[in-house]
Amino acid sequence: MFDCEQFIAESAASMKEQIDDIAIIACSGGVDSSVAAVIANEAVGDKLHCVYVDTGLMRKNETQEIQEMLGELGLNLTTVFAEDRYFEALKDVTDPEAKRKVIGELFIRIFEEEQVKVGAKFLIQGTIAPDWIESGGGVRDTIKSHHNVGGLPEDMTLEVIEPLRDLYKDEVRDLARVQKIRVADRQPFPGPGLALRCLGPLTLERVHVVREACAIVEEEFEAAAEAGKMELPWQYFAALLPVRSVGVHGDVRAYGETIVVRAVQSMDGMSARYSEIPHDVLAKISTRITNTLKGAVNRVVYDITHKPPGTIEWE
Ligand code: XMP
Repeated sequence: MFDCEQFIAESAASMKEQIDDIAIIACSGGVDSSVAAVIANEAVGDKLHCVYVDTGLMRKNETQEIQEMLGELGLNLTTVFAEDRYFEALKDVTDPEAKRKVIGELFIRIFEEEQVKVGAKFLIQGTIAPDWIESGGGVRDTIKSHHNVGGLPEDMTLEVIEPLRDLYKDEVRDLARVQKIRVADRQPFPGPGLALRCLGPLTLERVHVVREACAIVEEEFEAAAEAGKMELPWQYFAALLPVRSVGVHGDVRAYGETIVVRAVQSMDGMSARYSEIPHDVLAKISTRITNTLKGAVNRVVYDITHKPPGTIEWE
């Protein structure tokens, strides 16, 4: 049985011992980095600088929500607005692994800049076990190099501390509940953000499309769960596919792209089963997406692939 109080106490004590200088923590607003930040704050609050990078690849209204949430936890937070830099760096990148590498490198460069500003020596990260297991190493195949692991450049100058390295998601959520973190039960969101849900060219317009579609999926699933029509899946979102098909709006021919809705049930993200969703919920999502994103999207499909063989994200 995982003992949260004991883990927090031991982890804070070990950080206190190790961290003898200024530390930066990369806060994404997700449960993993928030838990790591609260432990680090308890251990070395006076030396801790929390940095949140707005990559321009976040969900709708997410930056503002994250700023409020981290502020409530009493963390010393700096927000770096880096949308332009990310879109410039990702301009011609469509390969999923290349995206992760570019995003990971830029993420570290931005942290190095912040490190110089505050004179930090340590970088704390909320990496958890599935991140590095799926990133390969040793005898394992690289399935996906999660950006906070495999994407780290070799010339990085910060000393990395990963207090949650050996934990699985359910354990991190338990910690978050003990720490009274608001996002304890929020679904996971990948570090590289909407970049992994926008297949094909990463443009501001296409990322806007997938951001709106993700927001609609979240709203409709949460409303349906609230109304007792279904259970909320473990993870649920939309991805934009660079597949155009012929449609019709009114009596005008349309030739837009495709949104795939993905929803899965899982314990820890390592394996997953697609969720059975009531058809009326899917129908409402489809109507809202095609109405809201008229011209850009004229077809919505539902993904019925388990993991394995599919992964949860499309990239
Ligand atoms: P996959 O797609 O590998 O996802 O079945 C398993 C879980 O990990 C998340 N995921 C990522 N998280 N960086 C992250 O921080 C990544 O590069 C990444 N890729 C996938 C995914 O959302 C799911 O919860």
